[in-house]
Order: sequence, then C-alpha cells, then structure tokens
Amino acid sequence: MKLSQSVINAELELFESRFKDAVKSKVPMLDRITSFIVKRKGKQLRPMFVLLTAKLCGGITETTYRAASLVELLHTATLVHDDVVDESMERRGFFSTYALWKAKVSVLIGDYLLAKGLLLSLDNNDFRVLQLLSEAVRRMSEGELLQIEKSRTLNLEEPVYFEIISNKTASLLASACAAGAFSAKGDESHAETMRNFGEKVGIAFQIKDDLFDYGTADVGKPTGNDIKEKKLTLPLIYTLNQVDKNTRRRIINVIKNDNKNPKKVREIIGMVTDAGGIRYATEKMNTYRDEAMALLYQFPENETRNALEELVRFTTDRKF
Ligand code: IPE
Ligand code: IPE
Ligand code: MG
Ligand code: MG
Repeated sequence: MKLSQSVINAELELFESRFKDAVKSKVPMLDRITSFIVKRKGKQLRPMFVLLTAKLCGGITETTYRAASLVELLHTATLVHDDVVDESMERRGFFSTYALWKAKVSVLIGDYLLAKGLLLSLDNNDFRVLQLLSEAVRRMSEGELLQIEKSRTLNLEEPVYFEIISNKTASLLASACAAGAFSAKGDESHAETMRNFGEKVGIAFQIKDDLFDYGTADVGKPTGNDIKEKKLTLPLIYTLNQVDKNTRRRIINVIKNDNKNPKKVREIIGMVTDAGGIRYATEKMNTYRDEAMALLYQFPENETRNALEELVRFTTDRKF
C-alpha cells in the first residue's frame, strides 16, 4: 500500500478533512456517534480508488474529492446497517455501532450518512457522480436482500453467489472507480473501463473477505460469522458440490440446526479446508484480480498506474 499512499498522500489528507466536514452534525447525539465513526476509520480503500482512477484519467478535481467523500459515506452507512442485519458486534477492531447503540439508532445513523452523501452531491451539482453512485446503492440493497433470501433456502449455486457479491460489494467499487474516472475530465469511455475494472476488483475483494471468515486471524471483526448467519460463501459452496451425499447432508444439518454452535461451525470450516474450498476460492479470487489488471494495462504505464496495481494486489493479499 506504500506506493498507493505516497502517490496521493496530500490528496488523501485533504479527503480526510473533507470527509470529516461532510459527516458533521449540529445534533449532539448524532455528532457523538459520527465522531466515533470517523475516529475508527477503516482502510479507506474506496476513496483511494476514486483518487487514483481520477489521477489516471486526467487529474484530481474538486468533484473527485466530493466523489471520494460520497463513496466513503455510502460505504460507512452500509457497514452500520450491515452489522444490524448480520447481528455483528465488532467492526474495525472495536464494538460496532450496533453493539453500542443497538438497532434503532444504527438504522437512523445509516440513513443520516446516506442523506449527507446525497446532499453533498446535490449541493454541488455533481449529478453524474450521484447517478453512478445511486446505482451502487440500489445494487447493494438488492444484493443484501438476495443474500437474506438465499440464506433461508441455503444457496448452493455458484452463479447466485457471484450475483450476490457483485451486487452487495463490487457495485460500490465499480461505481467508485467510474466516478473517479469521470470526475477527472468527464470522459464516459474512461468511466466505463474503470467501472469494469472496479467490478472485478470488488469481486476479488469480497471473495477475500469471505475467506477471512474461514480463518482464525484477527481481522478486526468476527470470523465464523457467515455460517452462523447461514451465508453460504464460495469455499463452502464448492465443498458442498464436491463431497458425497451423506457428508453434504451432515454439513447442511449443522448449518440449519447447529449454526450457533462454535464447535460445530469450526468442524465445518475444517471440512471446507480439507475439501480444497479455500484453495478453490483463492484461485477464483486471483482470476478476478488478473482480469482487473488486464483492464488497467489499457492505460500507459506510469506512477499512478503502478500505484493502482499495488492497491489491487493489496485487495487480495491483505491481512485485514
Ligand atoms: C468491509 O469493507 C465490507 C465489505 C464489503 C466486505 P472494508 O474491509 O473495506 O471495510 P473498512 O472500511 O476497511 O473497515
Ligand atoms: C459485505 O458483506 C457487506 C456490505 C456490502 C455492506 P459482509 O457482511 O461479508 O461484510 P462484513 O464481513 O460484515 O464486513
Ligand atoms: Mg456483515
Ligand atoms: Mg464478511
């Protein structure tokens, strides 16, 4: 991440101060909670993608900074909501908003962040950027809902898995890269190439996130949570389609009836590893990473392209 950070070091700092201003509220309770959220910042990958794609496509503008803030506002809003949906108590190495303030407040905070994002764009006539990002918000909601629907019927199909992650996660990265590219010179063809690039990166990103759930390393949020929430992700889908009928029945039984039992969940994780599910998902992730690189290589080599390349590698090699 060193190169990506150093190439846009000053710009990232400016983004952070703009982002902080963008979430401010005069309502004391809101301000307390949003300050908490700003302090516990994440990796800021999406703003980095916005800034770097803009730089690659002609240069960072004022619209770029607002696009980066909008993207991070939307991302933060979805995380706050997602932890309610997933009943997850930990986020970014600390208690989640849901753990501290519970569902009612978290739902409203998420809505507030979304509204602040909309206003930031509208007050500045960033209509195209807002259009690109609104598409992502729609797809994210569709993805999260499809995931809930499929956790009830237990999805075993790879194409459905990819539809879910494309919508719930890749959509935002796709729109972020498109908006970044567009914010430079208003070039739609650059925006389209970068949208495809962001989509590939986003899919690789979510496969990595799903792999974390099968590990035991500290990634700043709970692991083993997906099975608990009956989310069948790629390592498990692959395994279920590999093993014999009896084993499959046994695994499904645990997911249906013992999904809150950590010991049983660990057992399944062991079976997934033995069946090659982790290896398979890693290979798929790397394929998407390489497809993203191929799109990036349509641009001539320079420091910014190298920084983006490094950021893509970070997406798949990261430890948190
Ligand atoms: C987490 O995203 C949510 C997913 C889409 C998996 P990040 O891992 O980028 O979250 P932060 O912002 O760095 O905490
Ligand atoms: C991504 O899915 C969530 C969003 C798109 C908001 P996850 O539910 O896997 O994300 P984490 O693991 O909670 O960060
Ligand atoms: Mg979650
Ligand atoms: Mg996850």
